[in-house]
Amino acid sequence: MDQIRIIGGSPLHGVVEVGGAKNAALPILAASLLGGGECIIDHVPQVRDVITMTKLLALLGVEVQAEGERVMLEASNVQSIEAPYDLVKTMRASILALGPLLTRLGEAKVSLPGGCAIGTRPVNLHLKGLAMMGAEVRVEHGYIHAKASRLKGARIDLDFPTVTGTENLIMAACLAKGTTSLHHVAREPEIADLCAFLVKRGAKISGAGTDTITIEGVSELQGAKHWVMPDRVEAGTFVMAGAITGGDLTVKGCVTDHLGNLFTKIQEMGVKLAEHAEGVRVRRTAPLQAVEVKTLPYPGFPTDLQAQMMALMSVAEGTSVMTETIFEGRFLHVPELQRMGASIEVDGPHAVVKGISALTGAPVMASDLRASAGLVLAGLAAEGETTISRVYHLDRGYERLEEKLGAVGGQIQRIREVA
Ligand code: EPU
Repeated sequence: MDQIRIIGGSPLHGVVEVGGAKNAALPILAASLLGGGECIIDHVPQVRDVITMTKLLALLGVEVQAEGERVMLEASNVQSIEAPYDLVKTMRASILALGPLLTRLGEAKVSLPGGCAIGTRPVNLHLKGLAMMGAEVRVEHGYIHAKASRLKGARIDLDFPTVTGTENLIMAACLAKGTTSLHHVAREPEIADLCAFLVKRGAKISGAGTDTITIEGVSELQGAKHWVMPDRVEAGTFVMAGAITGGDLTVKGCVTDHLGNLFTKIQEMGVKLAEHAEGVRVRRTAPLQAVEVKTLPYPGFPTDLQAQMMALMSVAEGTSVMTETIFEGRFLHVPELQRMGASIEVDGPHAVVKGISALTGAPVMASDLRASAGLVLAGLAAEGETTISRVYHLDRGYERLEEKLGAVGGQIQRIREVA
């Protein structure tokens, strides 16, 4: 297995560019299932989860062609209704095939994703919503089996604004009979991006980006071209890389509106941010200061930036508190940060971080995608050498991270496993 080796202590300088958003590309690619006609998707990040999604779509009968950041899809001949365990277990976002398959073909069989490193992650709200639209949903032999000759529009109030749950229900409602109104839904920008693509395909959607979305079902969708929004989690990770190394880094393609909460916290920590034509410039000349952060659904502080923020808190002056409210198990990076000298105590959903003057490099292990990014940031700031193993987690969602950070002065390289 590949490793990432980092020699810490070099401030990052220059311009680093953000790629397309993984969590927008995945539902948009899954939405190709909703009908025939060529879909051309640009600015698709070349990360492992995207490759897994294209594999799943090909297995279901979608003609898929990928050329760099462009993916072309044609789903006229989709016949298979089954997303098998072997693929779903490697990527939970495979659940995004459920809504489109059911509404297009009248039946879907998708393996239950099961738990993962960051929590139990049930999909009950996806299933409840589909049942309210008239689907007969059974869970048996580890599979979700849903049937409906044609889904019917309904009013659905979500108990919690689940991101992929909202996406599944929107896609299902596009071809349902009548109007669906979804309330208390997730407001993540990736959902608005998916809706923009669906509207180009002929879907009738209003309210995208708000907590109430209305979809008037149509009988079919056509092909469309779409450019995927920039990845706000990658952008936030770069902003924090500039901040933790005390550099002067410009993050190109960073959409300020998507990261309001992070920017408030980062500025509270003493980091200077300036928006200009090329992107957001991040500078730090004084020590980082402690902050209190709570993860929340958008527009709150993203859980996907929690581990990276804990790396910053570890070296900030004073005592910081991180409260994780989205995923119960998302503190697996804590023992690894402790190996690097961090002083962190976890009490339920809270982590109390007493800042120290410097982390020290150590061999550490990645446990999930964003935890890996947190360890990379810690390694960039630490004294000496850090090696991160299990970097396949990182490759699921970050595109050439070591190359991008290396080009702005980070001493970071991938050590490839010799077969
Ligand atoms: N939940 C339920 N029932 C459901 C669905 C969710 O109880 O039916 C709970 C979950 O257990 C969790 C909370 O609701 O406690 C939020 O989960 P959500 O469904 O919103 O998460 P998700 O859709 O599975 C997406 C992203 C995650 C990101 C979360 C939260 C994609 C493909 N994944 O997951 O991204 O952390 O929203 O913002 O969009 C990542 O990129 O590293 C990643 C994990």
